[in-house]
Amino acid sequence: MNGPISDKDLEIIYDGGIIVENELIIEIGKFSVLKDQSDEVFEITSPHVLMPGFIDCHTHVCFAGSRANDHSKKNQGITYQQILLEGGGIYDTMEKTALSSYDKLKKLTENRLNRHFYEGILTCEVKSGYGKDFENEIRMLQIINAINYSNPYDLVSTCLAAHVPPQNQMISNDQYLQAIINDLLPLIKKDNLSKRIDIFIEKEAFNPKEAKTFLRLAKEQGFDTTVHGNQFTNGGVNVAVDSNSISIDHLETINDAEIKYLSKSKTSAVVLPGCSIGIGLPFAPARKILDHGCSLAIATDWNPGSAPMGDLLIQASILATNQKLSNAEVFSAISFRAANALGLTDRGVIQKNKIADFIGFDVSNYKEILYNQGKIKPSFICKRGKVYNN
Ligand code: NIG
Ligand code: FE
Repeated sequence: MNGPISDKDLEIIYDGGIIVENELIIEIGKFSVLKDQSDEVFEITSPHVLMPGFIDCHTHVCFAGSRANDHSKKNQGITYQQILLEGGGIYDTMEKTALSSYDKLKKLTENRLNRHFYEGILTCEVKSGYGKDFENEIRMLQIINAINYSNPYDLVSTCLAAHVPPQNQMISNDQYLQAIINDLLPLIKKDNLSKRIDIFIEKEAFNPKEAKTFLRLAKEQGFDTTVHGNQFTNGGVNVAVDSNSISIDHLETINDAEIKYLSKSKTSAVVLPGCSIGIGLPFAPARKILDHGCSLAIATDWNPGSAPMGDLLIQASILATNQKLSNAEVFSAISFRAANALGLTDRGVIQKNKIADFIGFDVSNYKEILYNQGKIKPSFICKRGKVYNN
């Protein structure tokens, strides 16, 4: 279901219970009824609101180093793009990430994801994109996969080698993108490091024409594609739609014609309020995007430059107030619609036969969660049927 959702559409079960078997939800209903069917029923006692585990469908949490100096400069009026053009920003993080050992980078990334998990994010997308060369890109993807293997949460890895053109190399953008297609993607495929390919369409990165060819060729190798676009300039939306990409992320500059174009496609809109907060830009027009019938997800974009905060619930609550979003629109945007933006159909709702991922808040009314602007965190976490207490 796409488009607006009213709070009246929320299905609320009071004094509820859930039966879980082999990581899956088998039954949901009233505890008083379910307890006669099984000894293994989760009782949802009052005051307690249970929701699907949150899903953060866009992050860059695999990085080393801080960009606090850049942040101060931005607060003095120097733009994000200026810093990048002068070889700072993303390039600075690439240097620091390359200097970090495998173990150090893994620990830094894992610490961020552990924090996220206990804030209710039970599935998280993580991009590469800070590799200064293909070796470093592969190392990032290996780290993401290793963390996924040894932790309770689920990670979805995405290759963002097409983040920014390589620095100090006598190579055109087209040649660089061709090299990703010819040399990097087959390695990623061979070792099953990722099923998704991303590209940043922007003046300082890659243009729509370059991106179009790149996305087509990535698709031909069997990858899903997603696009960073419409952050500072227009044009990304049409490329994402025309290439049948699974999502278009950012959308701060999306205009009416682009919203219409997007609404006629299967491409999900992903907005990143943490980035608007981090750079001091207007929020993406989430209300309009929904009103035109798109599927809207909200993600943190957690990264060291434009979005260092990484708190999904705080950012989603702030966006809700700015954009006049219902509770249902916000919670769907960080659960089943975020799953949709990742191509996952097995989670994001508390429903029979879905993965048993849910989180509980110590409140008696679900409206308390956004009202407290994301500062109330879950006290109960169940990932694939296993309980982790906060
Ligand atoms: O989604 N805009 C491009 N990439 C990231 C930021 C990466 C960074 O600044 O380190 C983003 O905002
Ligand atoms: Fe991003």
